[in-house]
Amino acid sequence: TVKRLTAPEIYARKGQTPLVCLTAYSAPMADILDAACDILLVGDSVGMVVHGLPSTIGVTMEMMILHGQAVMRGAKKAFVVVDMPFGSYEAGPEQAFANAVRILKETGAQAVKLESGPTVHETIGYLTQRGIPVMGHVGLRPQAVNVDGGFKAKGRTQAERDKVLQEARDSDAAGAFAIVVEGVAADLAGEITAAVKAPTIGIGASAACDGQILVVDDMLGQFDWSPKFVRRYAGLRETISDAAEAYAKDVRSRDFPAPQETYFAK
Ligand code: KIV
Ligand code: NA
Repeated sequence: TVKRLTAPEIYARKGQTPLVCLTAYSAPMADILDAACDILLVGDSVGMVVHGLPSTIGVTMEMMILHGQAVMRGAKKAFVVVDMPFGSYEAGPEQAFANAVRILKETGAQAVKLESGPTVHETIGYLTQRGIPVMGHVGLRPQAVNVDGGFKAKGRTQAERDKVLQEARDSDAAGAFAIVVEGVAADLAGEITAAVKAPTIGIGASAACDGQILVVDDMLGQFDWSPKFVRRYAGLRETISDAAEAYAKDVRSRDFPAPQETYFAK
């Protein structure tokens, strides 16, 4: 059997070779990504990427658990982290603990991730001390879309820079084993990475971070549009639509199914 990576092993990767992370939402995709990745994140981006929601606000515990279970069935070696959805942890440590326990018990994943906010530093300490490794998330916080008025890069003003840096320091001091840094300029990402003991995992946050993460469907080219920070490593949208067109043509011309694709009575 393959040994799965652990939270202390990930924490120890600070300053070593960069951590390779992608999101995953299904068992077959997790199975494919497992060999290449250190961490698979069952991101609440699943709501937008798979379920077509306009933001991550509508994502539920049930959705996270269902996709977490699927990813755990596919991933053998990668460390699997499940996002805590909007509304499942912000009230405070006890609410967060109850929901994080559900996620770990029902999925078998080893850790949760939660976006920074006023109660989160207390919550990271509370969970970590009670056996639940926590990944922090600072900078652009997609669950804050309604107060921010959209998905906007962070750190354009000094006050905002100070706030993001402080959130990262607080998450680190509270015991986060890694911290996602999203949507910040390179110099701020470098400052955060230098200021914290936990490895930083960047998304739209430059090469200054200790690791990188992308939404898998973005990097596979499944969408017409993707943000500036995404590199497309495949063109799945074209591949899939070409395949569907070819299939449609063959069905309409009765070229499919051919005799070799047909059962015949003996
Ligand atoms: O939900 C998600 O996919 C994320 C990553 C992009 C960090 O939070
Ligand atoms: Na997320």
